Amino acid sequence: MTTTPRRETLEKLTPVLTKRWLSPDAWRLDVYQRLDGYAALRKALTAHPDDLIQLVKDSGLRGRGGAGFPTGLKWGFIPQGDGKPHYLVVNADEGEPGTCKDLPLMTHDPHSLVEGVIIASYAIRANRAYIYIRGEAVHAARRLRNAVQEAYRAGYLGENILGTGFDLELVVHSGAGAYICGEETALLDSLEGFRGQPRLRPPFPATHGLYACPTVVNNVGTIASVPYIVLGGAAWWKSMGTEKSSGPMIYSLSGRINNPGQYEAGLGITLRELIELAGGMQPGHDLRFWTPGGSSTPLLTAEHLDVPLDFEGVAAAGSILGTTATQIFSDQDCPVYATYRWLEFYHHESCGKCTPCREGNYWMVRTYRRILAGQGTHEDLDTLLDTCDNILGRSFCGLGDGATSPVTSSLKYFKQDYLDYIEGRTAPKLSEKTLVGAH
Ligand SMILES: Cc1cc2nc3c(=O)[nH]c(=O)nc-3n(C[C@H](O)[C@H](O)[C@H](O)COP(=O)(O)O)c2cc1C
Ligand code: SF4
Repeated sequence: MTTTPRRETLEKLTPVLTKRWLSPDAWRLDVYQRLDGYAALRKALTAHPDDLIQLVKDSGLRGRGGAGFPTGLKWGFIPQGDGKPHYLVVNADEGEPGTCKDLPLMTHDPHSLVEGVIIASYAIRANRAYIYIRGEAVHAARRLRNAVQEAYRAGYLGENILGTGFDLELVVHSGAGAYICGEETALLDSLEGFRGQPRLRPPFPATHGLYACPTVVNNVGTIASVPYIVLGGAAWWKSMGTEKSSGPMIYSLSGRINNPGQYEAGLGITLRELIELAGGMQPGHDLRFWTPGGSSTPLLTAEHLDVPLDFEGVAAAGSILGTTATQIFSDQDCPVYATYRWLEFYHHESCGKCTPCREGNYWMVRTYRRILAGQGTHEDLDTLLDTCDNILGRSFCGLGDGATSPVTSSLKYFKQDYLDYIEGRTAPKLSEKTLVGAH
């Protein structure tokens, strides 16, 4: 049965980036403009670009793509007066399992992203910007391309924007559907027409990014936050969230809850409150484990229901806020099987550039199949931990590190579930056929 959230919990909802999602046709320029659209751009273009960078620094905005890097600081790294072209690249790849915040934003409110792109490009002195969108997201890409065309026709893009002398070309580029192309340097390689594989850093994109020029790469949610900060001011933005994790955040909830979906609340809300907002757990299901920010973030358990979901709170609980994709599993779900399915994903998506990730994930998938087919041994658990030890911190990019998160955390909290397969108390979930000739 769906439960109704209490009033004090409902008050935790802070629709800022999601505020137009329920307005019919908000993706059209005329409707967007009626709902405050492009007011922030007009205001921003009267300011000095450096003041805009300072405003974003003052707001405390941190990247919404997973790592939480301070956005104003990143913009400030772009060298000025260097005579080179500067680029803004928006990361709209959204591939982290469970994450579903950027695609609905681009579908329901694409102009907010376009407006953010124009303001951010003006701030970092870029005259060309790209939105790199996941290839499968055809509908969102269509809405986005339509919004870009509307913005060109209205004089918000192109030459001499709103008569200010500022020029900006914006290109929407569809990728081919590879998780690794969400990693910012692989994304840049893919955008340049190469195979999407991460680049060695340093040098960093701030000085040697797209076409070896200074580049800012930011997530959709980061850039779409900018118009609100310009209109509302840094103090207003900081009035939401927590001291070090300011502003609202879109949490995507999926799994064993009554009303899965996107819930926007100040950073620091707890899972207990989010589940209440989502109408409670499904009948007959008790929370057992969950991801705070996608499958690359260590699992948490029912003990962690009151952890504040901000960058610091989740780190203190031994995990990572990541993309705030909370996938909720119950006592009827198997953490060993869930981890196996995630590993299949990482193994499939590993780009193959470095040995720890390419080989480690290959072998871990095999070990999981053996355990789940009832043929695992106690040594397999040590082998899994040893393999993770050789992947974590030794991989070329974060994909390898992320793949170890569900393995080590499920072994930490749910070792007994593994032993139950190994010692024959749980019936095998995979048939022995899975062990023969599988890739
Ligand atoms: C394997 C991998 C996949 C990633 N996928 C995404 C993604 O889909 N979207 C995203 O914004 N960031 C993704 N990131 C993080 C980006 O590398 C980068 O940190 C982010 O785009 C920076 O934007 P922000 O500062 O606005 O968060 C990924 C990182 C890794 C290692
Ligand atoms: S960690 Fe994996 S995805 Fe990243 S470079 Fe190495 S093989 Fe490629």
